[in-house]
Amino acid sequence: LAKIEVKLADIPEGKSVTFKWRGKPLFIRHRTAEEIASEQSVAVSSLRDPQHDNERVQNPKFLVVIGVCTHLGCVPIANAGDFGGYYCPCHGSHYDASGRIRKGPAPLNLEVPEHTYANEGLLIVG
Ligand code: FES
Repeated sequence: LAKIEVKLADIPEGKSVTFKWRGKPLFIRHRTAEEIASEQSVAVSSLRDPQHDNERVQNPKFLVVIGVCTHLGCVPIANAGDFGGYYCPCHGSHYDASGRIRKGPAPLNLEVPEHTYANEGLLIVG
């Protein structure tokens, strides 16, 4: 099936860029050192869908998630909401900078698609 190659140099630190992949939005976020430290320190037991940040990223600098809210499928907004990650305006779900659900009706974290790094600067999703 279709794979997408993304040059990581095109994504500035602190920004989440949206790509289209297999008909869905794909968010790739170049996380800051502060975001990485804060997501890695979240107590997993406090989460609705408990996952450590390390289980969700291969390279802590980049978060790769499907941009579809796990509530009813709206597209969340980047760098919004109470947890600094994504906010879904449809019914108010707040996701953190690891794409984990932190508040609101969504039941699950944003989905992490299969992905690999071909080299330090090239990500392949799919
Ligand atoms: Fe995102 Fe309902 S679809 S909160």
